[in-house]
Parts: sequence; C-alpha cells; structure tokens
Amino acid sequence: MKSFASGKIILFGEHAVVYNRPALAVPVTQVHADVEVLDSPHKGIFIHAPGIDLHAELNSLPADHPIASVILKLFQRFGISQNPNLEINISSTIPVASGLGSGAAVSVALIRALSSRLSHSLSDDEVNALAFEIEKLHHGTPSGIDNTVITYNKPIYFIKGQPIETLKVGKPFTIVIGDTGISAPTKESVGDVRLLWLRDTTNYESYFNEIAQIALVARRSIESGKPELLGELMDQNHALLQKLTVSSPELDKLVQAARNADALGAKLSGGGRGGNMIALADQAQAASVAQALMSAGAKRTIITEIA
Ligand code: PMV
Repeated sequence: MKSFASGKIILFGEHAVVYNRPALAVPVTQVHADVEVLDSPHKGIFIHAPGIDLHAELNSLPADHPIASVILKLFQRFGISQNPNLEINISSTIPVASGLGSGAAVSVALIRALSSRLSHSLSDDEVNALAFEIEKLHHGTPSGIDNTVITYNKPIYFIKGQPIETLKVGKPFTIVIGDTGISAPTKESVGDVRLLWLRDTTNYESYFNEIAQIALVARRSIESGKPELLGELMDQNHALLQKLTVSSPELDKLVQAARNADALGAKLSGGGRGGNMIALADQAQAASVAQALMSAGAKRTIITEIA
C-alpha cells in the first residue's frame, strides 16, 4: 500500500489562529511525503526513513516517537493487539521544521497507507482527527491547521474547532516561497507568543484581531478573483508578525528582497524565527523574485500556483 501527502504553506493568520482567529493555508504539491507499507517475511514492524536516518523495529522506539506514535494509535484504534509483520518505507521531500508541514504530511500519508493495509477505511475527517492527535503530542498547543490543509489537500479557511471551509479560488495566483534554511521549532515560537500574550493580553489581543481582519479581507480577495490585493495584506500581516516577535533578521531580509524585486507583497509564513517566507508575484515576475531571494541568502525557493 502506498500513500502520499503534499506539503502546505500558511498564507495568512499564523499564530493568531492558535487564539481562535481565522487563517488561510494552501497545499504545496511540489513537495510531499511518501509512505509505502509492505508485507514482510520477518517478524515485527521495520521502519525505514532514510531522510531522518531511521532504520528501526517498532518496539525499539519510544512510544512517543513521532512515527511510532502514529502506528500505535492506529493499532489501538482498530483494536489490533498482535502486530502484523510489515516493512514501512517513509521518504519526504518536505524540509523539516520550516513551516511546510513535514510532520503532518508524514502522519497523514502513514495513517492512510497503514489503514489501507489493515483493511480499515478511514474518512478524511477521521484521518484529520488522528493526525491532529499526533500534532498535539509533538507540538504543544497546535491549532490543527497543518493536519487539516494536508488531509483535505485544498486551499482552506480555517478556524480552530470549527467545520473546515474550503476556499474557492476566483483567479489563480502565484506564490514564491523562500527558505531561510534555519530550522525553527514552531513549538518554541508558539510558546513565546503565549508568554507575551499572558503578560500583555490587551495589546496581543488587538494584534490578533488585526490579523483576523486581514485574513477575512484576504479570503474575500481570493474568492472574488482579486488576488492582486493580497500583496498589501501580506505586508500588513508581516508587520504584525514582527510585533508578535516571531520574525528574524533573515526573514526580514528575504521579505525585503522580494519586495525590492517587484513582488506585490511578502511575509513570513508559519511559526517564524526561521523557516519560510512567501511573496506574491505576477506569474511573469516569479522567477526573478525567486532569483532575488537566492541572492539574499535563501537556501531554496519554490514557485507554486494557487488555483
Ligand atoms: O510552522 P508551521 O507552518 O507548522 O505553522 C504553525 C502555525 C502556527 O499558527 C504558528 C501554530 C499553529 O498551530 O497554528
């Protein structure tokens, strides 16, 4: 059994989404996690994930290991007490800890491939709920946006705990993603924002409200076929993320480089402090924006069309 799941990027609303404000996210199909589950002649469950240098039998891993915990949760869910003999191969082209959803994509692909092999079919809602449980194990207080956009593989408008809404894209638009190459655990930036919010609730609530307003206007712009309006909204959202203290000199440098290269707007994306930024560009300008990002120190870029 084989399954794969795309990466994702947050367009608007990161961090505020943890505090029940709306956020927008889209799949990034250029990068993906792939999982293959094979029957094995050997006793036990062998996991191979060369990208993270993992070659191990399930029982030799701690129960809270990100991959082991997915498998154990599924067995528990299906009432399986006797482990089948399996070989599980996991590979991924999604950079780790950079805001592209690598952990959630591996979870979703693994849940799908393994449940098919065990002849249990799961609905998207069930896959999403299980992937969210895994996210909670590893990320503290995640909003659930990563597992949701990756499970449904569509642009989404997301509010924590509410039924998912897919975004209708009125007119395609192009996003350039630039990677600082700095891996920055989302858990830490989310934890820091929480401390700052506790200390200065009034101001942080008002930043979150401003971000929510941007997400609302962005949704309207996307759905009504006016994506060119997103550039200015990205600039405004980035300024608010700076106030939340989650930008970094490297992110600011790439954001500025994109703007100088005639991007229509740019912002950091995801947890911040490192990881990725995004820029809105006319399709014809996208390659030169990507080039400008590389010259400003990006480790890699992805040009993706949202349609
Ligand atoms: O770093 P990422 O792309 O996984 O994004 C995290 C988004 C946050 O809003 C910062 C956290 C969350 O759980 O929504």
